[in-house]
Parts: sequence; structure tokens; C-alpha cells
Amino acid sequence: METLKKESTANEPDYALITGASGGIGYELVTIMAAKGHNMVLVARSGDKLKQIADDLSKRFSIRVIPMAVNLGEESERINLVDNIRKNNIKITILVNNAGFGDAGYFADADWQKNERMIQLNITALTHLTREFLPDMIARNEGKILNVASIAGYLPGPLMSVYYATKSFVVSFSNALHSELRGTGVTVTTLSPGPVETNFFTEAGAADAKVNKLMKPASAQSVAHYGYIRMMQGKRKAIQGLNNKFMVFGLRFVPSFVTNYLLKRLHR
Ligand SMILES: NC(=O)c1ccc[n+]([C@@H]2O[C@H](COP(=O)([O-])OP(=O)(O)OC[C@H]3O[C@@H](n4cnc5c(N)ncnc54)[C@H](OP(=O)(O)O)[C@@H]3O)[C@@H](O)[C@H]2O)c1
Repeated sequence: METLKKESTANEPDYALITGASGGIGYELVTIMAAKGHNMVLVARSGDKLKQIADDLSKRFSIRVIPMAVNLGEESERINLVDNIRKNNIKITILVNNAGFGDAGYFADADWQKNERMIQLNITALTHLTREFLPDMIARNEGKILNVASIAGYLPGPLMSVYYATKSFVVSFSNALHSELRGTGVTVTTLSPGPVETNFFTEAGAADAKVNKLMKPASAQSVAHYGYIRMMQGKRKAIQGLNNKFMVFGLRFVPSFVTNYLLKRLHR
């Protein structure tokens, strides 16, 4: 790998960059990480919320927290974010690509603009930020990346087809990257939650879907805690709980017309 070695200097503090930090799993992650003493850059669109969170966490835990209001779906805003971080010599040693959203319904009826924004955020932004911060991590022989996928990334997703496909990308890309990075000191962990109690299903237009009644959602706090531990251990996968493990590993042995049928019913 053609990356110049770069010495880590003691006077450059380490930072974790967390996307989607203003709510849901991302907010719980930053709260956990603050308590562990990480300095952080918080990214989401809601600048006021981020500022409030940053003020609160920096006071409570005596850490540095920098809020950056960015629409990660826009390439120009991502470029500004990266430039800003470089100009201010902010050393990113942990990258958490968590921001993402879904869309429910028949693809033939889908709102294309919403689907395009979803692909831009769930796939392009995650890949772009990883590409920007990874070379410096490799050069310093240290770094952790946590990519938030979903058990959806392992399954077909009738009635949420594009969302499931974006998460398949995250699983495939992150798995491959974990392997490419062996021996570099940098690890990539894929967090794949099942349903979680957040704003996600409302945002996806799926608040009334059967999946919400049949599968008890996990708390965002427990998912964030599990993901944090697995990331710090440098593990490749983070799939919490027996039900989710069954969905990912057990359903492999079931013919795909059966999984399609089951998943379609769950998303009705
Ligand atoms: N909840 C579930 O059941 C579940 C299950 C499996 C996987 N996941 C995954 O977990 C991740 C977090 O979702 P969540 O459940 O915590 O959802 P959430 O409560 O809706 O939070 C989403 C976060 O992403 C941010 N965000 C959305 N669009 C953005 C954009 N264009 N640019 C920057 N930030 C943006 C939101 O902040 P702003 O609105 O302020 O921008 C918010 O902080 C997602 O990748 C999701 O696919 C969720």
C-alpha cells in the first residue's frame, strides 16, 4: 500500500468523527464515547441540536467536542467538512459512519429524489469519508472505523428494496476493507442492528409495518454500546443478540423465495 508513514505527535489530540450524531443510535454513541473520554467531531444537518449536545458533553466530561452542521448527501458539503478538519489539524483516529435513512413501499411507486438522497447518504457519503480519512490512519498505524449497516444488509428487502440494497453495499464494502487492512493497525467494524427504537421507521414511512409489532426493537443505547465495544476490539462484525444472528446466519439455509415472502410480510 503506497501510503507515506506519518508519525503521530503527542500534542495533536485524537478525535472521533461521528456522523448522524444528533439523534438515535448516533446520539447514544457520542454519549458513550464522551464518557470514555474521546474528543469528538459531531456531524449531522441539525446545527442547533449538535451545538447543544457538544456544549453539554464537553462540560460534563471535560473533552473537546466540535459540532459541524453538514448535509452529507451533498458532495460539496462533504468536501468542506474534510477541508475544515484538515485546516484545523484535527486528527481523526476513529470514524463512525452512522448517518443513514430508509424508504418503504413498492419501488415502482417510490419518490426518486428521496431514493437518490438515500443512496447518496447511505453509500456515497460513507465511502467518501472512509476514503478521505483512511490514508492518514494507515500512515499512523492506528485507526478504527465503524460502519453502521443493518441486518437488512444480509437479506432481500421487498417493500424496502433500495434501503436493503444500500446496506448490502455497506456490509460488502466494509468486510472487504477489513480484510485489505489486515496488518495496518486500522480496523473496520460493521454494525448490523435489527429494529432499533429511533426515529428511523417514521422517517422511512414504515411506522405501521408489521416488523415493528413482531420484532421487539432494541434500545438505541444498547445497540450503540455493543457497536462501540466491538469497534474498540477491532472486530469485523457486530451483530447483537440471537434473533439478529439467526436472521443473518440461519436464513442463509432457507430458499430465497421463502425469505422474500417472509420479509415482504414483515414490511406490510
Ligand atoms: N433504527 C433502526 O431500526 C435501524 C436498524 C438497522 C440499522 N439502522 C441504521 O442506523 C443508522 C442510524 O439510524 P437511526 O436509527 O439512529 O436513525 P435516526 O434516529 O433517524 O438518526 C439518523 C441520524 O442521521 C442524521 N442524518 C440524516 N440525514 C443526514 C444527512 N443528509 N446528512 C447528515 N446527517 C444526516 C440525522 O440527523 P439530522 O436530521 O440532524 O441530519 C440523525 O442524526 C442508520 O444508518 C440506519 O440505517 C437503523
